[in-house]
Amino acid sequence: MRRREALRVVANEAVGAYVLLRVERGRIDPGVPGQFFMLEAPGRPLPRPMSLCQAPPGELAFLLEAVGPGTRALCAVEPGDELYVFGPLGNGYRLDIDRPLLVGGGIGVAPFPYLSQQLGGPPALLGFRSGRHAEAAALVPNAEVVVEPTLVTEPLAGLGGYDVLACGPEPMLEAVRELAPRAQLAWEAPMACGYGACFGCSVEIEGVLQRLCVAGPVLEAA
Ligand code: FES
Repeated sequence: MRRREALRVVANEAVGAYVLLRVERGRIDPGVPGQFFMLEAPGRPLPRPMSLCQAPPGELAFLLEAVGPGTRALCAVEPGDELYVFGPLGNGYRLDIDRPLLVGGGIGVAPFPYLSQQLGGPPALLGFRSGRHAEAAALVPNAEVVVEPTLVTEPLAGLGGYDVLACGPEPMLEAVRELAPRAQLAWEAPMACGYGACFGCSVEIEGVLQRLCVAGPVLEAA
């Protein structure tokens, strides 16, 4: 069940170009991989949606990239600070699959450590824009890593028969959908509430406007 709690920050660790933020778990349910949580930095009322990266005993960990004022504030919190966390929210990945292959790009690898743990360490294909960003691949077991200009869809094109679970930027997801029409894709959208109230995350799916925080963020490619 989703809930909102102030959780104490345990650690703020650099992982290449990203930050792994570890917080006490409190009574928050880690949920299903691919679900997300709204994180509120101290003094910043607008929360940011983040998928869970790791769920070690007693903790929740989120992988963050500082790309704007909200994420910069989250990346700057220090051990001992308190952070409001609300979740789990939305729909995660379906795990009843035979041959999982994780396909991720950039900060889109964020849900994969937890997903990989739940699926028993399946193979992963990860793409990054630089070697420094690619350091995040160390969090994902059994990962093959490519760095731009090589795109993750290049090795993917040579593979068949996998149940693809993908997360990354929209152009990557569109390309993955072409190659793996049955893939499960985790999409991103700006989100203000996270539970269907603000319509800020509306996207057009098959001609119908849907709230991604309720219908997704994980959607079947088909
Ligand atoms: Fe408010 Fe989806 S984030 S409706």
